[in-house]
Amino acid sequence: PRSIFLTRHGQSEYNAMGRLGGDSPLTEEGQKYASALGEFFEEEQVPNLRVWCSQKVRAAQTASHLKPEMQTEYWKALDELDAGICEGLTYDDIQQRYPKQADDRATDKYHYRYPSGESYEDVVCRLEPVIMELERQANVLVVSHQAVLRCVLAYFYDRPLSELPFIDIPLHSLVKLTPRAYHCDSTIYAFDL
Ligand code: F6P
Repeated sequence: PRSIFLTRHGQSEYNAMGRLGGDSPLTEEGQKYASALGEFFEEEQVPNLRVWCSQKVRAAQTASHLKPEMQTEYWKALDELDAGICEGLTYDDIQQRYPKQADDRATDKYHYRYPSGESYEDVVCRLEPVIMELERQANVLVVSHQAVLRCVLAYFYDRPLSELPFIDIPLHSLVKLTPRAYHCDSTIYAFDL
């Protein structure tokens, strides 16, 4: 059976500061994850593994230790949810500067759209071609971001949309999905760096 591997990028400078979005590079911890991921796939020897990566620096750096024979494609559709006017802020900043936005988001996280940005619903919509392609492919590793991977996982786990924005996807862990006839088996590898 074929497998779909999903991972967030390694820890970025913005992650370490608690800031949303942006396009910051990996921290030293994040770099360690990138090399651990390279070693994992070196040992695993997954046949014809394709790598689909977002177009953000932190994702490309995370994929950079994978063997060159693994074809890497960079999809804009895999970029993180666009937090619009809140990009680069922390959750505390948002609470202080835009308390109404914070309230609205807490009321309906799935449908809430950041001003000049996106909602989870928007991300689900832009991921449709990616998911269609994932359904057709053999072994794929997706290197993307928290909100995007919540959408992908909700699809394969068949989770209700209201729960989707709360799916737990920690940094430095890799999810292996193996689609079966009516469900998906999953294994989570947590990396000790
Ligand atoms: O903080 C990392 C991050 O990927 C942000 O870029 C993004 O806005 C956020 O997580 C998504 O998580 P939540 O929807 O829970 O705020």
